[in-house]
Amino acid sequence: MSQKTALVTGGLGGLGSAICERLGRAGHAVVTTYTSDKGRVAQWREHMQGCGAPSAYAAQCDVSDWDSCAAMAEEVRSQVGEVDILVNNAGITQDSSFKKMSHEGWDQVLRTNLDSVFNVTKQFADGMAERGWGRIINVASVNGRKGQFGQCNYAASKAGMHGFTMSLAREMARKGVTVNTVSPGYLATDMVMDMKEEVRQQIIETIPVQRLGEPDEIGSLIAYLASEDAGFITGANVDINGGLHME
Ligand code: CAA
Repeated sequence: MSQKTALVTGGLGGLGSAICERLGRAGHAVVTTYTSDKGRVAQWREHMQGCGAPSAYAAQCDVSDWDSCAAMAEEVRSQVGEVDILVNNAGITQDSSFKKMSHEGWDQVLRTNLDSVFNVTKQFADGMAERGWGRIINVASVNGRKGQFGQCNYAASKAGMHGFTMSLAREMARKGVTVNTVSPGYLATDMVMDMKEEVRQQIIETIPVQRLGEPDEIGSLIAYLASEDAGFITGANVDINGGLHME
């Protein structure tokens, strides 16, 4: 396939780096955003080059902040070029029961997980439509599909992402741009490993395939959705959760 430029937000994290790796292996130039951990950028770039990505570029950006996203987009355009594939992957959790949830805990999660989708997509969607080709993939969660004890903020943000997906998919379909949601289940990443061991074990027992997912399994699905072959898939919410939620 022809080389495209793919931007993955939060691409230094456990899931993000696996997504970057798969897109790099598919022959795309890879760009990531990172917040503060500049120390990991050199290692990430080396890893991407080892995977065969034609180029790898990292731009500092707070995806929850509009001005930061606008500056990042300008930097990416001047340093790398136009973005053809956008993966809105950056996200955080701040789990607590609703009874204990603070306004700050609500606000930070909604701004980072959901406002970010507007802030980043807005920078690149018009360009994709003008060029007549684009792929926008929003990384949500099984818990945006089914809800989860302790995740009113996170589940609301992830369910909101798919409302955005379906609406933008309708607006962009005639322009050659697809917009999809991927809803992963529990993966072997720091986000899940940071949970209380006993809660995590209880959850694994409820997953029909009886294991956590691998980040690479999500990366592979995203690389497919980003490919030419996936041009007829738009507005979908693709579950990849080991059977934890089915509908
Ligand atoms: N299910 C049922 N009851 C629960 C519960 C649960 N998961 N968690 C807590 N409770 C109970 C408590 O035992 C307590 O009961 P009593 O009042 O009878 O003593 C009551 O609910 C109130 O609990 P608290 O407000 O004190 O909550 P807590 O501090 O004990 O636990 C929590 C809160 C840590 C968020 C816990 O609910 C939890 O770990 N939930 C799971 C969160 C989760 O799945 N996170 C996923 C992170 S990874 C991710 O999100 C990636 C992805 O996309 C999948």
